[in-house]
Amino acid sequence: MVNIGVLISGTGTNLQAIIDGIKLGKIPGKIRLVISNKEDAYGLVRCKKENIESLFIDPKGYDNISYCRRLMEEFKKRDVELIVLAGFMRILSEEFVQAYRNRIINIHPSLIPSFSGKGYYGERVHQAVLDYGVKYTGATVHFVDEGADTGPIILQEVVIVDEDDTVETLREKVLRVEHKILVEAVSLYCQNKLIVKGRKVRIDRE
Ligand code: GAR
Repeated sequence: MVNIGVLISGTGTNLQAIIDGIKLGKIPGKIRLVISNKEDAYGLVRCKKENIESLFIDPKGYDNISYCRRLMEEFKKRDVELIVLAGFMRILSEEFVQAYRNRIINIHPSLIPSFSGKGYYGERVHQAVLDYGVKYTGATVHFVDEGADTGPIILQEVVIVDEDDTVETLREKVLRVEHKILVEAVSLYCQNKLIVKGRKVRIDRE
């Protein structure tokens, strides 16, 4: 059983997908702690309902380095081995990334490297996709490195952009794919089936 820590900022549908994936026996892991940087994140309500330990840690009064140290402190106390960024709208410090090298997984709502990096998060991504007029978008699960959305890619899946799509319809379509590939990636990680060599992630499917 891998001890999992989750960072969230909002609704937490990806968090819910992991919770359900564990319940269904797809993920051999346990969520030890969920931390939100937003007090009103609905993901915190999900934790209460599911009896999962959760904390709101207010970033006010911290610089990013000390805020990330606070997060690390809480995860270390609970022997967390894998950190999942499930809609976490902050960039982790280099110190955090180095402490958990190839042990932090992020879900991003586009096909990286398109529509990714600084300023591309949440609905802004879907707005940018619609403004550009691309025919395909998708979702990416990747390990986190020191850059913004630049770490080794674990899984990606394509979503078709229809002519009448809006930010809302696109968000829904992409979220469905996010939930699927995030659960799959976390499951593979927990089974020790992800082998990272430089930028490449090989999946040991036997
Ligand atoms: C998801 O679409 C996730 O990919 C995105 O925020 C949303 C959170 O939804 N993350 C980013 O944009 C990170 N750069 P959720 O709270 O319902 O899981």
